[in-house]
Amino acid sequence: MAIQSSYQQSGKPKERKTDKKKPPGNDESQLLQPEAQVEETEKQEEKLRPHRLADYIGQTELKDILNIAMQAAKARKESLDHLLLYGPPGLGKTTMSLIIASEMGVNCKITAAPALERPRDIVGLLVSLQPGDVLFVDEIHRLSRVTEELLYPAMEDFRLQITIGKGKSAKTRTIPLKPFTLVGATTRVGSLTSPLRDRFGLLHRLRFYDLDELTQIVLRTANILQAGITPSGATEIARRARGTPRIANRLLRRVRDYVQVKASLPITQELAGEALEMYNVDSCGLDWTDRLILTAMIENFHGGPVGLETLSAAIGEDAHNIEEVYEPYLLQIGFLQRTHRGRVATAAAWEHLGYDNPNRLPLFTINYSQ
Ligand code: ADE
Repeated sequence: MAIQSSYQQSGKPKERKTDKKKPPGNDESQLLQPEAQVEETEKQEEKLRPHRLADYIGQTELKDILNIAMQAAKARKESLDHLLLYGPPGLGKTTMSLIIASEMGVNCKITAAPALERPRDIVGLLVSLQPGDVLFVDEIHRLSRVTEELLYPAMEDFRLQITIGKGKSAKTRTIPLKPFTLVGATTRVGSLTSPLRDRFGLLHRLRFYDLDELTQIVLRTANILQAGITPSGATEIARRARGTPRIANRLLRRVRDYVQVKASLPITQELAGEALEMYNVDSCGLDWTDRLILTAMIENFHGGPVGLETLSAAIGEDAHNIEEVYEPYLLQIGFLQRTHRGRVATAAAWEHLGYDNPNRLPLFTINYSQ
């Protein structure tokens, strides 16, 4: 009795999906970067942000938690507890912080850890806060040690503990602060020190948005921009937006341009698909770099496992960028797995890129004639 394996030996793609050479003037690769923010885009984003919790689509669990926490704090006439928001970029951490301030009727000051290098930067900010104000600190895992240590008593007891002078003549001064809410945002919660993490009363992970939520966001934004769109047109954009509102809104603006020039509004599913193909955004929302990562894993490392640093060297993309910007979505859609031996491209990734997967479990056919 002979057992024949019917799986294909060749891992070669039916059609190669990623040219190794980066497309010239590859601006469209920026289209899918949650962090790609030119000043103009930031201004446009501002116009599109919801200002009330009720207008915020998605993140239902967080909204429920915040609703309760804010009502309770308001009833007690206290500031809201400090909040740590973590998760991939572009999921609404800043927007949520601005909404909290507006719901609580206070100001929101926005900064990022790299801007708080010197003690006087954080001291200046903290003493300027009014009762109940929100201080939003992005990339909070990057705080310098001195700044972080100044934050401990500020968060705990609303006081600053400052040391003046050095050595034996050094004196400590305590400066009282107005009660405030620190909203910390990070993409790397594991990099936070535990004393800092423990001082947040509320910790929440923002999750990717589902197709329905993103479709609603695209429809809402199109309405603000007065860009006619059909529901299926909105879904087509949502499908390619990597679970991220910031990307959905950016794709919508590019599709609107395309449709205005090449056809006429409204944006239909067909036109949206056509425009996004032109911008090199495929049917799963993968851009050129995503495809390069997966293609390198498949072609150079037989699909993995491959270590992050090795992969980074193979494609010439920063390891940190691969881990923070590209991987979360590839993991989310099941195209990549992290194992203790390294990264692995899944069968779905092989199939999406048009490769026959030799690692697929073989289908055995039993030949009884021998
Ligand atoms: N625009 C960007 N993110 C949004 C959200 N979560 N809800 C509504 N509009 C948005």
